Amino acid sequence: MKKTVLVSGGAGFIGSHVTVELAQAGYDVVIADNFSNCDDTNYKGVCAILGREMPLVRMDFCDKGAVDALFGKYPIDAVIHFAAFKAVGESVSEPLKYYRNNLVSFVNILDAARAKGGCNVLFSSSATVYGQTDDLPVTERSPRQPAESPYGNTKTVCEDILRDSVRAYPGMRGIALRYFNPIGAHPSALIGELPRGVPNNLVPFITQTAVGKRACLSVFGNDYPTPDGTCLRDFIDIVDLAKAHVCAVGRMCDARMKESYEVFNVGTGRPLSVLELINTFEQVNDVKLNWKFAPRRPGDVVAIWADPTLAEQELGWKAERSIADTLKAAWAWEKKLCM
Ligand code: WQD
Repeated sequence: MKKTVLVSGGAGFIGSHVTVELAQAGYDVVIADNFSNCDDTNYKGVCAILGREMPLVRMDFCDKGAVDALFGKYPIDAVIHFAAFKAVGESVSEPLKYYRNNLVSFVNILDAARAKGGCNVLFSSSATVYGQTDDLPVTERSPRQPAESPYGNTKTVCEDILRDSVRAYPGMRGIALRYFNPIGAHPSALIGELPRGVPNNLVPFITQTAVGKRACLSVFGNDYPTPDGTCLRDFIDIVDLAKAHVCAVGRMCDARMKESYEVFNVGTGRPLSVLELINTFEQVNDVKLNWKFAPRRPGDVVAIWADPTLAEQELGWKAERSIADTLKAAWAWEKKLCM
């Protein structure tokens, strides 16, 4: 019997790539999205890759009635929750917008799942919950630090909401996947990252600069205590990341969990500096990037990268794509957007 997975925020960057991998792994997938932070480019790309119209529900997860109706309409075996606001800077100036949207939407999903007698819930968390730690590479046992932003705090709070819900309500199981820095695009160049307005994140700013949409990339800080003075990050390929979700959903649906609530880091375990990433992008794509050093960006951690051992041991998942292939795919996607 095929399992049905609801992907909230499934029209977005990560949600669309996860939808493709789930469908190709044999799951029935229902995409639900309010399109507040993306257009239908990735949804159309998903349908093109899969060769069929995927079930799509346009809705807001802050609308409890709509969430309850969704759970009444589809036989949902698992939910992967992506639908959230994610701009770190905006969350500082608009905290209530972030707390309302990111927390209420998740509570509505969990409440509907509880009312149906339980469900497998996978939460899209982030390495941001670790803050700046000297305990590197960071493991799932590394302590969470006070968040640097309301956005980061919603990730920490939602992890606790999931943990407490699976402990309290029968039939609930939960996994939180803590992503490091998701980058890249699907090899088909039919789906990829679609930031609205000026990109906050490094790789879309790089590709938009390379294609001429941005005049110059600013490298925020070159005086950090790192080998080349720029920050260190764990850049994880978006397709590798998506495959980790398929492994986690399978673990929940096949009742292979050891605890009712589990946490896994999803990273490569390979730290890379901002400058190393820029140089690699230029080399593998044979392009010259216009960039300059700029002052440090408030809130940036100096260095963070994963110890991915637990996901490999328990999920049977490991990042496989090279940074070269990831950056080639990112560049191919950006060029496709300009066609
Ligand atoms: C990476 C490095 C910047 C842009 C955030 C969130 C995380 C997740 C991913 C949402 C830093 C430098 C960046 C630029 C630069 N969010 N940089 N010039 O901050 O590590 O993580 O995005 O899903 O939860 O915290 O990612 O790509 O913004 O920055 O020099 O124009 O690149 O200073 O050192 P970050 P990022």
